[in-house]
Amino acid sequence: MADFDYDVLVIGAGPGGYVAAIRAAQLGLRTACVESRETLGGTCLNVGCIPSKALLHASELYAEASSGTLAKFGVKLGKVELDLEAMQAEKAKAVKELTGGIAFLFKKNKVDWLKGEARFTGADRVEVGGKPVTAANIVIATGSSVTPLPGVEIDQERIVDSTGALAFPEVPKHLVVIGGGVIGLELGSVWRRLGAKVTVVEYLDEIFPGMDGEVRSEARKLFAKQGLEIRTSTKVTGAKVSAKGVSLTLEPAAGGAAEALEADRVLVSIGRRPNTAGLGLDAAGLATNKRGQIEVDQRFATPVSGIWAIGDVTPGPMLAHKAEDEGVAVAENIAGLTGIVNHAVIPAVVYTHPEIASVGLTEEEARERGEIKVGKFPFLANSRAKTNRDTEGFVKIVADARNDRVLGVHIISSLAGTMIAQAAQAMEFGATSEDIAYTCHAHPTHSEAIKEAAMAVTGKPIHI
Ligand code: FAD
Ligand code: NAI
Repeated sequence: MADFDYDVLVIGAGPGGYVAAIRAAQLGLRTACVESRETLGGTCLNVGCIPSKALLHASELYAEASSGTLAKFGVKLGKVELDLEAMQAEKAKAVKELTGGIAFLFKKNKVDWLKGEARFTGADRVEVGGKPVTAANIVIATGSSVTPLPGVEIDQERIVDSTGALAFPEVPKHLVVIGGGVIGLELGSVWRRLGAKVTVVEYLDEIFPGMDGEVRSEARKLFAKQGLEIRTSTKVTGAKVSAKGVSLTLEPAAGGAAEALEADRVLVSIGRRPNTAGLGLDAAGLATNKRGQIEVDQRFATPVSGIWAIGDVTPGPMLAHKAEDEGVAVAENIAGLTGIVNHAVIPAVVYTHPEIASVGLTEEEARERGEIKVGKFPFLANSRAKTNRDTEGFVKIVADARNDRVLGVHIISSLAGTMIAQAAQAMEFGATSEDIAYTCHAHPTHSEAIKEAAMAVTGKPIHI
């Protein structure tokens, strides 16, 4: 590979790209990573996972203090006040520490950070800031950005995408969220907890498309209890911005009379689309599929030899951990090892309160494939949840009726995001529900609900 500037050039330093670059360097390959942002870490660290979780955590603390939850436990405070500036500063600190951490890891592993935007000029070369760079292998990890909604133009003032909604200078009086998906419900929750009236407008007849049906309807009930107004089967067809705010036009999704809805801020969160514009894919001999994604095989190789792709720019769920695992695998494949990602076992978590986590097939998907057994256990009957006065949600395990193999696990619980790792590991090892039921779980923990749900698959939970 001596004729090239690098053995591996990664385009994009998000969770996919930075991880691929570090792994490639660890494997002894001369590696560079091109990133056009001022800081490393991509969407996730700069304007995605990290700042949103920082605000979710902080707003949850505020809600616990201001709603009287802490007082109920005997923790009495004086007047609770919101200091949004301090909250945002703490968020910025977390982002800075983590993005700076990637810069440190690049130095430590001798990954060159090429600052600027990369554009293909051939299959083994790109231009970065007018300078040519060649590489034997190029990994496209350019991520995704918000899908625009025609007629509702994002100005990052009144009408924002998630980046704008992470940085409102004050709590909106009325925030309208367009799209009842993960971003809409996470960021809607943040601003609701901080005092905003929040209306979520969803085109389909239920929030969280693609999730287990029972989880979707239970989640909706819980959000309604928290004061989020959710309007399903409704579309937004236009927006007029004035000095006072935004006047949205709403119509039933199936057609019908239009109505106006006034908001002072609007969040557009109707999905994200892959970043390929301006990348010069033509020059590399590459094309995107109908959804704008770059297709890859199970090794993450594109049809053009030496070009690879991972993360949000490729098909599959747009999740940071999926991108990271693909980053490790692609680097290992480039180095001649065998890098594999099991796409059937990718957990997904919504970091609302309670959290909503899942891995594997939904009950509906599993039923379509064959006979199944389902075990459920409510947190109302879990001792730790009761101790913590935190009994919302349930665990649901879907198993194959023929051999008891676990096909899917779905959890609504304050700790669901952490608990789902156990389910993913069990599925990765091909566990049956009986394997989980006969694994000793510490008491008192929320995780015992997973064991009891596994016992319920054969109809024999103990505590219900
Ligand atoms: P990205 O992180 O998007 O990184 C791509 C990078 O490539 C960007 O920094 C971009 O600047 C750079 N780039 C693009 N084109 C070029 C070019 N031509 N030259 C140079 N650089 C270029 N996922 C989770 O798993 N958990 C979460 O909690 C979570 N929360 C989220 C919250 C929000 C608000 C959002 C928006 C997303 C969230 N996600 C979450 C999704 C997660 O951020 C993405 O799945 C993940 O970042 C994808 O990683 P990636 O490496 O594919 O791309
Ligand atoms: P999403 O795909 O989760 O939800 C979009 C929602 O908008 C869907 O419910 C869809 O039916 C609805 N919708 C589409 N068009 C509409 C329209 N015209 N009017 C009204 N509703 C409409 O997308 P979202 O929330 O934008 O998130 C993008 C991606 O970011 C997701 O794929 C997710 O994987 C990732 N993400 C992950 C997080 C996590 O893992 N916790 C957190 C935030 C984002």
